[in-house]
Amino acid sequence: MTPMAGPAIRVAAVSKRYGRTLALDGVGFTVPRNEIFALLGPNGAGKTTLMHILCTILAPDSGVAEVAGFDVARAPLEARSRLGIVFQEPSLDDRLTVRENLEIHGLVFGVPRSLRRQRITEMLAMVDLTDWADKPARALSSGMKRRLEIARALIHDSEIMLLDEPTAGLDAQSRARMWEYVRRLKAERQLTVLVTTHYIEEVEDADRVCIIDKGKVLAIDTPAALRRQQGEQMLVCTPRSESDRDAILERFADRIAHQRGGEIALRADEAFIESFLDQFGQRVRAISTETPSLETAFLSLTGRELRDRAADGREVTLAFGKRGGEHTR
Ligand SMILES: Nc1ncnc2c1ncn2[C@@H]1O[C@H](COP(=O)(O)OP(=O)(O)OP(=O)(O)O)[C@@H](O)[C@H]1O
Ligand SMILES: [Mg+2]
Repeated sequence: MTPMAGPAIRVAAVSKRYGRTLALDGVGFTVPRNEIFALLGPNGAGKTTLMHILCTILAPDSGVAEVAGFDVARAPLEARSRLGIVFQEPSLDDRLTVRENLEIHGLVFGVPRSLRRQRITEMLAMVDLTDWADKPARALSSGMKRRLEIARALIHDSEIMLLDEPTAGLDAQSRARMWEYVRRLKAERQLTVLVTTHYIEEVEDADRVCIIDKGKVLAIDTPAALRRQQGEQMLVCTPRSESDRDAILERFADRIAHQRGGEIALRADEAFIESFLDQFGQRVRAISTETPSLETAFLSLTGRELRDRAADGREVTLAFGKRGGEHTR
C-alpha cells in the first residue's frame, strides 16, 4: 500500500451528541504521519467516541474526520483498510489459540494465505508472543492479551494505529512494556499511533499530547511544552486560616496555578519563594515546592484531577505530580 501524502489523521470541528450529552464539542486536530499522538482525558471526556468516529463505527453529527486523506463518512472502507484498531474493551476470542485469533482477523481483512502466515510470524515476534502461538488466548495475562490485540491490528498492514486505553488496568511494568511496543511501531514500522489514556505520566512517551475534557480540546502540544507553560517551579502552600487563604489568593492572583483540597499552588521561582516566605511564612501551615509536571498542566487546564472509578466503586486518583523539597513548617 503506497502511503499517501498529507497527514495521517485530520479531525475538524467534530461534534457528537448522545441525547442530552454533548460527547464531542467541536474537536479539531491534525496528526502528521509517524507521530505518537496521545489523547489524554478523564472518564467521559469523549475519547472513545472520537475513536469510534475515526474507525467509522459512529457518524459525527457535524464536522469532518479524515484517515490517510479519506473522509470517514464518504470513504469508510478506504479509511478502515488503513487502520489497525485496539478497542477499549478486550475483543479476543478466548477459546481460540493466539495464532487462530490472528488468522481469523487476516481472513476477515482478505489477507492472502501465504502473506497471512508470514505476517502472523512477524507480528508474534514483534510483540514477543512467538512461544505462545498455540496456547489458547485465555491462558495469556492481561498485558499479553493487549499485545496480541496490537499484533492482530497489524495483520492487514495498517498504517495508522488507534489504541483506546491499551494500558488501562495493567500493572506499571506491563504499561511500560506496552509503550515500548508503541514506540517500536513508530520506529520500526513507521506507523502513526493515536493512543488514548488517562494515565498522565505515560504520555511523556508521546510526541504530542491532546488534553481533552467534556468533549473539548483544551491544549495540544509536546509534553515538554505543556510542562513549560506552568513555569519553572510551583510553590504549594496550605494557609492557616480562611483569612490567610483570602490574603494569599488576593495578593498572588496572577500566580495561581490551581487549588487542590486546602492547598494553593502558585507559579514560582527561587526569588519568589524567598519573598513569599518573608511575607507569608507565618500564615501557612505547610509549604512545599513542586516541579512542574503534566499533572499540574492538566490541573490548571481542567481545574480537577484525573480520576477513575475502581470496579468496587471507590474513586482512585491515578496520576500524581512529582513532588520535591517537602519542608513542612
Ligand atoms: N452510547 C452512548 N449513549 C449515551 N451516552 C454515551 C454513549 N457513549 C458514550 N456516552 C457518553 O458520552 C460521553 C463521552 O463518552 P466516551 O466513552 O467517549 O468517553 P471516554 O473519554 O472514552 O471515557 P472513558 O475514559 O471512561 O473511556 C460520556 O458522558 C458518556 O457517558
Ligand atoms: Mg473510553
